[in-house]
Amino acid sequence: MTKRILITGATSGMGYQLTVDYLRAGCVVYAVGRNEETLNELSSLGATSICVDLTDYNQVIQALSDIAELDIVICCAGVCHYIDITPDNRLSEHSSSNFGFDAQKIMQNINTNLGTLVYTLEAVLPALKKAQGRVVALGSASAHVPFARAEGYGSSKAAIHYLMQTLQISLKPLGVNVSLAIPGFVETPMTDQNNFSMPFLQTPKQASLAIRKGIANDQEIIAFPKQLTVPLKTLGVLPNSVWQFVSSKLYAK
Ligand SMILES: NC(=O)c1ccc[n+]([C@@H]2O[C@H](COP(=O)([O-])OP(=O)(O)OC[C@H]3O[C@@H](n4cnc5c(N)ncnc54)[C@H](OP(=O)(O)O)[C@@H]3O)[C@@H](O)[C@H]2O)c1
Repeated sequence: MTKRILITGATSGMGYQLTVDYLRAGCVVYAVGRNEETLNELSSLGATSICVDLTDYNQVIQALSDIAELDIVICCAGVCHYIDITPDNRLSEHSSSNFGFDAQKIMQNINTNLGTLVYTLEAVLPALKKAQGRVVALGSASAHVPFARAEGYGSSKAAIHYLMQTLQISLKPLGVNVSLAIPGFVETPMTDQNNFSMPFLQTPKQASLAIRKGIANDQEIIAFPKQLTVPLKTLGVLPNSVWQFVSSKLYAK
């Protein structure tokens, strides 16, 4: 049977690649994003494009609740805003004691990464239940180990890990399956800003393949590439002094 798939963050990076790949495979794809030019391009490839700011709860409910049935929902929408805390970093002349602790940037990570996910999920849950489908959220290997500068981004991803793993239990009685994708580094506009080395960097095509394979195999955790995610997960469960030593060395670079 033809799969019906909704993808948020479809206008860029992994979401874009997943949209193109699922369209090529003959699936019905709802592509959700804000960039109208890319949404038009995806429409011309056969997607049903939906233009919506996913941080606006009312817009999300209005735009997504009418879809009758969905086999797969992949929530890729996200942002990554780093903060730089230093003794002499002042954000504005009115704020003399923030030292780069930028609460608004931290909340932008949380509102976009966690907010867009839960708003989307509330809107599409009936459609997922009807099809006994699967929801996939994009976490991050950075949630395994606390990395300075990623205070906001990492907090939002740690929250997503917790949310999806609890939903693996609580959505089961509804017949809705839940997967958490945990990528390492993937070459997209999001990582273009990174000025540090990104080991085992993947292309969006590799990431899309890993996520699609994980979904096809009903995996609850889709972590890739293993060369990065396994050592990071192991590091995160070692004593504080060990991971703090490694993390602070990376911060110092
Ligand atoms: N790249 C990596 O190395 C990496 C690693 C681990 C996890 N991840 C996660 O994977 C997901 C996809 O990342 P990516 O690298 O593919 O990112 P990306 O290329 O920057 O794409 C982000 C997408 O999110 C959408 N988006 C952001 N805010 C939105 C909003 N308010 N409403 C609707 N759409 C919004 C953007 O749409 P617009 O075009 O409308 O802005 C864009 O399509 C993210 O959740 C990211 O945190 C990425």
